[in-house]
Amino acid sequence: MDKNIQHLRDIDDLSADNIHDIISRAEKFSADLAQKNDVSHLHRGKVGLSFFIENSTRTRISFEMAALRLGINMIHWDSASSSLSKGESFEDTIETLAALAPDILIMRHSEYNAPRSVARFMGCPVVNGGDSYRAHPTQALLDLLTIQQAKGDVSKLKIAICGDIAHSRVARSNATLLDKLGAELHMVAPEYLMPQDVGYKNATAFTSLDEGIKGCDVVMMLRLQKERMSQGLITSDQSYFKEFGLTHARLKHAKPDAIIMHPGPMNRGVEIDDAVADDPVRSMIRRQVANGVPTRMAVLDWLLEQNKG
Ligand code: NCD
Repeated sequence: MDKNIQHLRDIDDLSADNIHDIISRAEKFSADLAQKNDVSHLHRGKVGLSFFIENSTRTRISFEMAALRLGINMIHWDSASSSLSKGESFEDTIETLAALAPDILIMRHSEYNAPRSVARFMGCPVVNGGDSYRAHPTQALLDLLTIQQAKGDVSKLKIAICGDIAHSRVARSNATLLDKLGAELHMVAPEYLMPQDVGYKNATAFTSLDEGIKGCDVVMMLRLQKERMSQGLITSDQSYFKEFGLTHARLKHAKPDAIIMHPGPMNRGVEIDDAVADDPVRSMIRRQVANGVPTRMAVLDWLLEQNKG
């Protein structure tokens, strides 16, 4: 297959200039959506294929909305009703999808680096909607848009990424992206959820939440991902909340105007208190979801442009 195809498998597929380009497109699309401007002429006639071999609410729906807003016709391929369930190998299935020649492919997969293996077969750009605990690049881009809208230039900000870092692709993609743009990062996790690979240039590791969020402009909480844990790591939801749940009392350690983020789905009363999640001024959680659409429009638009004939 064509080695020159631009994909978005992880943040390392993007230069800092590419990131700025995508974010400025996202800002423009966000204004278009607010003004109800129809931009479906931009990619009318294109056909996109999405498959999510892992559960998703926000990511899948916002990708599909983004594609439809741009005029891309979407086919959602459902693995449960596919020939995979007849015993076809994953490789043969992907070669079949490649032979059908979609214009763009959006995927989520539980296997480490699956988008890289799939991209090798495809003659079109592949967009990663999350793989294993490794990467979720469009979540990091929409988080960047959200932070920039609320706080401006990220290179001047202190940003805490807190909770179950060990099992979080959101944490990895956000850290890679924010590190690339020069933000000061605090990676904050209890010792048993702190991975060994937190080697970011501008990052410091903390095992206490109060210490880790001290003086931060942004406090990003992560879901406790029990589905990726071996047994026995967490004694109970209540004990984790006591140790690492974000409450308004705890938030006093951050800057008084710090914003709160969470990629969703949230476990209320486990990693985040209701009152913090629903804080009408400081919680950006609904804004993050809304920003998923213009950010994914920007990614699809940018990739289709990069790979034009
Ligand atoms: C995240 C994911 O699936 O990686 N959610 C999302 O895409 N917004 C985070 C999570 O599952 O905790």
